[in-house]
Amino acid sequence: MYLVLFGPPGAGKGTQAKRLEAACHLVQLSTGDMLRAEVASGSALGIKAKDIMEAGKLVPDELIVDMISSRIDDAEGEAGFILDGFPRTIPQARALDAMLDGKGLKLDRVIELRVDDEAMVERITGRFSCASCGANYHQKFNPTKVAGLCDACGGDRFDRRADDTMETVRARLKAYHDQTAPLISYFEKKGNLLSVDGMAAIDDVTRQIREALD
Ligand code: AP5
Repeated sequence: MYLVLFGPPGAGKGTQAKRLEAACHLVQLSTGDMLRAEVASGSALGIKAKDIMEAGKLVPDELIVDMISSRIDDAEGEAGFILDGFPRTIPQARALDAMLDGKGLKLDRVIELRVDDEAMVERITGRFSCASCGANYHQKFNPTKVAGLCDACGGDRFDRRADDTMETVRARLKAYHDQTAPLISYFEKKGNLLSVDGMAAIDDVTRQIREALD
């Protein structure tokens, strides 16, 4: 199964992608995670991407398409993949179509998480993750079971993303509306768009997605 999880910053793409990955044995391909790894490693791509990401803007299409195409190649032979954060522009969507065509594959579904902008600011500024295993949490909506200890690995150090500030969130939302939201009609025309209520609680969103895919 080949899926795209689509929605603005903070919509829950990463949260739901991890759940689907575990339940459906699919590979999560997150362009945001890949870029953060490039920044952390100090690679040439990471150096180019760092300031753009911290300003809340989109990294140029050609860099993203080069980065994701090899990951899509690597995922061949798996049960499928979930694209999280890609495509984000019309040229990226066309490049994805061409990549899949070349492999004789097609997207089964694009799952849009419908959410309100104002709620996204609270979701993003309250997000934190385990510094050891990367598990994601939210101080209000998805806290650790024991305060200060990661549920998954017991780690006691947590990180926040450099781009999760109030100002950057506003810029990221603007980039979404200007450059990414036009993809909704692109996918509608292709007939594979499925919209779910991303404002529901995390478990309810998972249930809606699983029911729609079943
Ligand atoms: P990326 O990492 O993709 O960030 P994003 O799209 O801004 O999305 P987020 O990761 O912030 O949110 P999410 O939807 O995954 O939500 P999450 O599940 O974490 O991209 C970062 C940057 O990289 C971009 O700004 C850009 O510069 C660059 N980039 C990446 N891809 C690119 C591309 N294709 N082209 C160009 N540039 C690119 O949830 C958020 C919080 O809310 C969590 O704390 C979670 O616990 C909580 N939560 C989740 N669901 C719910 C719910 N239903 N109810 C309550 N709380 C919830």
